[in-house]
Amino acid sequence: MDSLLIKGGTPLRGEVTISGAKNAVLPIMAATLLTQETCVIRRVPDLSDVRFMAQILAWLGAEVHVKNGTVRVTAKKIKGSGDYDLVRKMRGSICIMGPLLGRLRKATVSLPGGCIIGARPINLHLKGFEALGAKVVIDSGYVEASAKKLKGAPVFLGGRSGSTVLGTANVIMAAVLAEGVTVIESAACEPEVVDLVTFLNAMGAKITGAGSPTITITGVERLHGAEHEVIPDRIEAATYAIAAAATHGEVTLRGVRPEHMHAVLDKLNMAGVKISREGTNLTVGRNGRLKPVDITTLPYSGFPTDAQAQMMALMTLTPGISIITERIFESRFMHVSELTRLGADIEIEGPSAIVKGGKPLSGAPVMASDLRASAALVIAGLAARGTTQVNRVYHLDRGYESMDLKLRQLGARIERVEET
Ligand code: EPZ
Repeated sequence: MDSLLIKGGTPLRGEVTISGAKNAVLPIMAATLLTQETCVIRRVPDLSDVRFMAQILAWLGAEVHVKNGTVRVTAKKIKGSGDYDLVRKMRGSICIMGPLLGRLRKATVSLPGGCIIGARPINLHLKGFEALGAKVVIDSGYVEASAKKLKGAPVFLGGRSGSTVLGTANVIMAAVLAEGVTVIESAACEPEVVDLVTFLNAMGAKITGAGSPTITITGVERLHGAEHEVIPDRIEAATYAIAAAATHGEVTLRGVRPEHMHAVLDKLNMAGVKISREGTNLTVGRNGRLKPVDITTLPYSGFPTDAQAQMMALMTLTPGISIITERIFESRFMHVSELTRLGADIEIEGPSAIVKGGKPLSGAPVMASDLRASAALVIAGLAARGTTQVNRVYHLDRGYESMDLKLRQLGARIERVEET
């Protein structure tokens, strides 16, 4: 298992190209199951999650080629049940259920367990499938949805913390080949959902309202192959922007969609981070001392939960008190104890973390617990005095393409080593 050794204290400087969005590419790869024809997806990041999804599609019977950021899938003949272990290992693969149900009228996958950031049930996904007329059975660790025919229907997908991203994606993909019209209310508005709909419409689907809480799907007979370039990863971009600010550096993020990042850029601006935009490039730097800001994570276009940990790392370096409240996942503060190991002063009160910032951090061995927590530890390590060893970076590799290489290109003293 690899870990990262980071010698802190070097301001990041230079340009970094932002990869395609992990959370857009996973459902888009699943959507290729909806047609027998070839689909070509470009700007696909080289991530372990993407490789996993490719394995799952191949396991289902699709022909899959992944090369230099392009994925080519031809799902001529497929089976309706995913490999137990493969699906169980990656939560995101739950989004093969909608396309399998939509195309084959039957889908069986292993029930995704909870994960370290929360229970993460799929009741809303299943509610959507049942609204289209599917029968859902949970048995021996599997969940099966089946229907003689699927019929368009209205469905409300709002849950305890608002909308569901993959739930919205799954129900859309089950409804595109259903008979009649489906109207999803309280749909997720994330840019990744919009990107999926752009791809589906390119395949011949009839979907309107993506990006708003009301999405209308008019079922069609069949879908054809299509080509698509994935949107840039707004969370990867946010991570590098925060790392630039945390190290007193100046970094240009190339190939971003700033209009997908309003909430993060607004908070960075309020904290006193300097941000300038030129087309699809954003330059992020510092204007002296930062100010503490309070953050509450919300569904899009609110502050993304996937940037909460990274923002907390920045607030540990900022003199004053900031309150960070997590409203999406019930246990997404695993990074707090590890940031404390680096010398941060953070107290958890229910859904909030009270950060008393400004104390210099000092390097230490820390343990990554999940994808975004590991990004926060890397940012803290880049700003800390001395050497930080971030262990279990396989978490990071799930969602960040060649992070150590990109950081080294920005001047960071970081290397990947075998964990000791
Ligand atoms: C997606 O997960 C992302 N993953 C997550 O990113 C992201 O944190 C999350 O959306 C929220 O933005 C992918 O796209 C692969 P949800 P998803 O369903 O769709 C509750 C990362 O770091 N809920 O929107 O699984 C749920 O428990 C990852 O890249 C139900 O109660 O998240 C949570 O509290 C982590 N019932 C809330 O809704 C359901 O049926 C939002 O979850 C579904 C969800």
